Amino acid sequence: MLTITQIIIIILYLCFVVYIFLIEPNLVKVKDYKIRIRNLPDFLNNLTIVHLSDLHIVNLNKKEHLCINKINQIYPDLIVITGDLIGNVHGINSVLTFINSLKSRYGLFGVFGNEEYQSLYYHHLEEIINSKITILKNSHLKINLPNNKNFFIIGLDDPVFGRDDLERATQGLPKNGFKILLTHSPEIIKKYPKDKFDNFDLILCGHVHGGQVRLPLIGPLLIPSHCPRKYNSGLHKIRKNYILINRGIGTCPLTIRFFCRPEISVIRLSQVTK
Ligand SMILES: [Fe+2]
Repeated sequence: MLTITQIIIIILYLCFVVYIFLIEPNLVKVKDYKIRIRNLPDFLNNLTIVHLSDLHIVNLNKKEHLCINKINQIYPDLIVITGDLIGNVHGINSVLTFINSLKSRYGLFGVFGNEEYQSLYYHHLEEIINSKITILKNSHLKINLPNNKNFFIIGLDDPVFGRDDLERATQGLPKNGFKILLTHSPEIIKKYPKDKFDNFDLILCGHVHGGQVRLPLIGPLLIPSHCPRKYNSGLHKIRKNYILINRGIGTCPLTIRFFCRPEISVIRLSQVTK
């Protein structure tokens, strides 16, 4: 016969299991980041960027539809996805439907993560490349806006499997102009000397999922990266510029989250005023 205390402990334990497996992984949060950029051109003041990462899509469930609705309600200037779009080999049609459902003023840009290169998923890369999203693989692109204004997006191929090549991605890139660097993992800041990033105004990445399980006062239990621990999520300064590490939408390898809700980052750029 169980005591009252034992019954309460079992109930609490079951509630905890239900919460980490079924509730929190679906509690998508829209997180606003107002980022003040030195020398930001006037025409980019208030530019809105939706940054997504690590969706690990297998099917289009309630969570993915919720993301599509939230993003389309914002109707941002740009949408960027920093890798791990696909969750497994059966996810390709859902990935394409997801991408095709998103709306923004100037387009949808992204880079590949390690999931895109896992054995069987590799065969779907062409389908993603030929879809609505522009995938940058160690290359850059000039984004043309009305009135002959422009800025640059630079994309590194997956750094987790060592496919990144910063030298190649920046070849021919002008010194002037606003630049956003997309990469799957924050590990690039360990791999390259920090001054290599001075020419970028903003670096966006994901991969580490904020650790997925975070404890109050302690933070994430596990971080799949060799970076200093502070680079597990959020906005950080590297010398002159910022890096934003998105907590991701999906989960991997365990389908759990605790104190680490899935995140849609909404970045609003503003000028530094003295
Ligand atoms: Fe990843």
